[in-house]
Amino acid sequence: MKGLICAGGTATRLEELTRVTNKHLLPVGRWPMVYYPLQLLQRLGVREVLLVTGQHHAGQFIDLLGNGHVRSRMGDEPLFDLDLSYKVQVEAGGIAQVVGMARDFAAGEKLVVCLGDNIFEHAHADAVESWGDGALVFVKEVPDPENFGVVVYDDAMNVTDIVEKAGRVDTRYDAPPSNDAVVGLYCYPPDVFEIIDGLAPSSRGELEITDVNRVYAQRGDLEVRRVEGWWHDGGKHWADLADVGRLIEETGANK
Ligand code: G1P
Repeated sequence: MKGLICAGGTATRLEELTRVTNKHLLPVGRWPMVYYPLQLLQRLGVREVLLVTGQHHAGQFIDLLGNGHVRSRMGDEPLFDLDLSYKVQVEAGGIAQVVGMARDFAAGEKLVVCLGDNIFEHAHADAVESWGDGALVFVKEVPDPENFGVVVYDDAMNVTDIVEKAGRVDTRYDAPPSNDAVVGLYCYPPDVFEIIDGLAPSSRGELEITDVNRVYAQRGDLEVRRVEGWWHDGGKHWADLADVGRLIEETGANK
């Protein structure tokens, strides 16, 4: 099992904070944001990690993380003992495009994909350890489902469809069909790359990860688990960064 961190994008929703700096390098509590998904992968037992970011920020990630062996500046204890490599996405083309860039890196193994701005109270190691042959995603109830990919359930609570930002990206629905957002931790079997090969760009011109997940859902190969504890998408608003930092101090992250 290998790991992928998606750390690209221009993060305009964070306004002045990301004029120069990449979102995933901004402080969340005592750490740069990207440390949290890296720690999550490490807690899952993943060692080989690929980080994909944009051309203008790749150097900063290498300055920060080097080859993946990172020691704390306070006390010298090891923070990360990962085998880290990098790829550069020259034009933003969607999360599924980034996953597609990991094809050679994955080399036939399973792949855990973390969005670099998603921070979790729990690493979900048990769920990932018991994950079967299909894909595994996690959902969390949100008050603003129009800002996420959400699942559609049938009467027996089976997931029949997934809808990306209803009304804006996926125009099949005017309003979100549920409040259960698919969060940025996705576990894929090796056939994910064949699914990506068959994707067409969405209405916003991107290859959508939601379209990948829909293929698994519609063929009955999608396991959907509920997020334990809190979860935050740190890319939504600048004011969240300080709040999430304080929350992490209270509860810890990636437990
Ligand atoms: C992305 C995905 C969306 C998912 C969200 C989780 O959205 O496209 O399906 O629910 O991450 O954070 P974005 O980061 O583009 O808002």
